Amino acid sequence: MTKPTVFSTHPLFEEPRRKIAERFDVEYWTVPGRPPRDELLRRVAGKDALICLLTETIDAELLGAAPRLRMVANVAVGFDNIDLQACTRRKVAVSNTPGVLDETTADFAWTLLLAVARRLLEGDALARSGQWQGWNLDQICGADVWGKTLGILGFGRIGRAVARRARGFGMRIVYNDAAHATAEIENELRAEFLERDQVVAESDFVSLHVPLLPETRGLIGAAELLRMKPSAFLINTSRGPVVQESALVAALERGTIAGAALDVYENEPRISDGLRRPNVVLAPHLASASTETRTKMAVMAVENTIALFDGRRPPNILNPEVLHEGAAI
Ligand code: GLV
Repeated sequence: MTKPTVFSTHPLFEEPRRKIAERFDVEYWTVPGRPPRDELLRRVAGKDALICLLTETIDAELLGAAPRLRMVANVAVGFDNIDLQACTRRKVAVSNTPGVLDETTADFAWTLLLAVARRLLEGDALARSGQWQGWNLDQICGADVWGKTLGILGFGRIGRAVARRARGFGMRIVYNDAAHATAEIENELRAEFLERDQVVAESDFVSLHVPLLPETRGLIGAAELLRMKPSAFLINTSRGPVVQESALVAALERGTIAGAALDVYENEPRISDGLRRPNVVLAPHLASASTETRTKMAVMAVENTIALFDGRRPPNILNPEVLHEGAAI
């Protein structure tokens, strides 16, 4: 029996490769770097499924180039790279990878927070430079983290995992989200719901954990940055366009805030020159990048793809309405 065909825009990892090969004829993008758009459109033509990364734009044009396509499995939890409505109209199932990356991403938000507060990169540069003259009382003094106020915008799984870690630092935790957490969660995490403006104004660290949606695009702009304490830091491990990058650059130039630690950018992989400052920690979109977690994400994408073609409901389907009668479980 001929197997269905899948194009994977990345060679993935050994375990997911083994799993998908049992059920599909697989073609991989093996060239280093991401496939150019014309190459993606060419490779996806005639395929039954696509496994892609958040760097690929999945829109009506791509769907038009792939008339056989029934499945798009995004190896990411965020799916703002995918026009979900266009996929649904074409009855293409879409899945993402929720849950497996929460703790890893929270670890990284904390990595950034601690690094920017304690000026780790400046210290590292001095230690490597050969210029270090030894301990000095006022050398690279940063800001304390323990006992401060952590503000979390977006109190879903990742935001809560970030909050859980803050308890070990004896911090006050305030949050805002479209929905209140239950009293049980608030008690467990000792987190207090505040209006968004209050979270921004009262926090020493503002950490962003919202998905990119029309209503969260530009959530942090000039007005919010002005509302932050001049001693406060902004941490972004969500999506770049949640912050207006030009407003952030202006705020850093003027000293409106003390610093920022960023994993994501408005126009990735471009990073505004104005962000290359000593009080800004810059990471290249690494928050979920542990080998364990990235492997789990790839396995999830593969399992979702296999499920659909086995006539089962993909466990992480985002548009279950495309499952025709009889196929859904
Ligand atoms: C990474 O940014 C993801 O959305 O999984």
